[in-house]
Amino acid sequence: MNILVIGSGGREHAVVKSLSESPSAPKIYCAPGNAGIAAQATLLKLDVKNHNDVVKACKENKIDLVFIGPEDPLVDGLADSLRDNSILVFGPSKAAAQLEGSKIFAKEFMKKAHVPTAKAVTVSTVEATMKASENFSAPYILKADGLAAGKGVFICKTEAELRLAAQHLFELKGLGRAGETALLEQNLPGYELSFLLLTDGENFSALPLAQDHKRLLNDDKGPNTGGMGTVAPMKISEELYQKIISKVVAPSVQQLKKENFIFRGVLFIGIMVVDNEPYVLEYNVRFGDPETQVILPLIKNDLAEVFHDVSRGQLRPLEIKNQFSFCIVNAAAGYPDKPQKNTPIELPQNQSDQYILHAGTALSAEGKLVSNGGRVLNIVAVGNSREEVRENAYKLNDQVKMHGRQYRTDIGGRF
Ligand code: AMP
Ligand code: GLY
Repeated sequence: MNILVIGSGGREHAVVKSLSESPSAPKIYCAPGNAGIAAQATLLKLDVKNHNDVVKACKENKIDLVFIGPEDPLVDGLADSLRDNSILVFGPSKAAAQLEGSKIFAKEFMKKAHVPTAKAVTVSTVEATMKASENFSAPYILKADGLAAGKGVFICKTEAELRLAAQHLFELKGLGRAGETALLEQNLPGYELSFLLLTDGENFSALPLAQDHKRLLNDDKGPNTGGMGTVAPMKISEELYQKIISKVVAPSVQQLKKENFIFRGVLFIGIMVVDNEPYVLEYNVRFGDPETQVILPLIKNDLAEVFHDVSRGQLRPLEIKNQFSFCIVNAAAGYPDKPQKNTPIELPQNQSDQYILHAGTALSAEGKLVSNGGRVLNIVAVGNSREEVRENAYKLNDQVKMHGRQYRTDIGGRF
């Protein structure tokens, strides 16, 4: 089987690594990929916005299956263009990808599915936002409707902060069209978890529960990021798990079906647990980054076959290992605002259960490994106990050399 992976981050490196270890031994292509992925896949130079280009490359390379990693090409309808050309795709249709592409659409979907979520109203002017805020209490959550690469959610402690955020979106057009409308949402105080499931639009298979660490600094301080580290499986009570399945997961999948969506891929439900009750924060229509890095090593099945089955609408049961995994993100100096590029990197040797995945890396003109993005490396450990994987991941992390790198030393606090 020839598989093309679309994307260039740590998530895609995790996917490529797991595919390269699949017993079915697929030939792997990746576009655009990164310096680490290059060791395990043939990189293709493709403009993924040009769907004809992607279709042409698939035909030239006899691609059997395309795995779409990031949200942008999904929201842009790449899965539909490929399916129109009879190419199998792991990833939902453009219509279904609106669940991630529009916060307002997602909130409507949540209401129709009767899943618990924070109350919210749609706003598109500063005045309307301030008026609506009278029915909410601080901190105020303002969410740009469209895709904003993780920069679209404003957590405002005061009315003055809310006004600034609304001005940024509606008057200064700080996020362009993505921020022309927004949701003002009630704050939910609790802890977050990432529930990912495979679905073919009919049935679903839960993936190991993961916990991300969104803030840049220890103790959940500092700015929000794409994610600074993950652990899996996250331990919660059986009672809470069953509540999540019955109140959130099952009705969400049921609603996908009711909407007649072509949804063959991953649904990632961001959940806030408040007083032992789950609330849906958001839907993503793709694997999480860095959730994928800890989820995939725990799957026993042949991943190439799993993706192939899902893309044909024939999801089969998953087998999950009785193990633990841990991921520490190394971000560049200046991340998230102005990540420094071209910082030289020196890495220790990988081992089978402790290894480094590449996210934002590239090779310099002299062929040296350098940083090339915000989140640069993922330090991963897999093993038989929580303590072991934490210790091994941090030991490996100590051996990484990259000037000014930022990482958290408290990943897995709730593990
Ligand atoms: P989202 O993209 O909607 O998941 O929002 C990004 C992050 O903002 C989430 O991971 C939460 O940490 C935070 N967040 C979003 N909505 C809320 C909310 N209603 N209450 C508290 N925190 C929130
Ligand atoms: N780690 C959060 C995300 O992938 O959206």
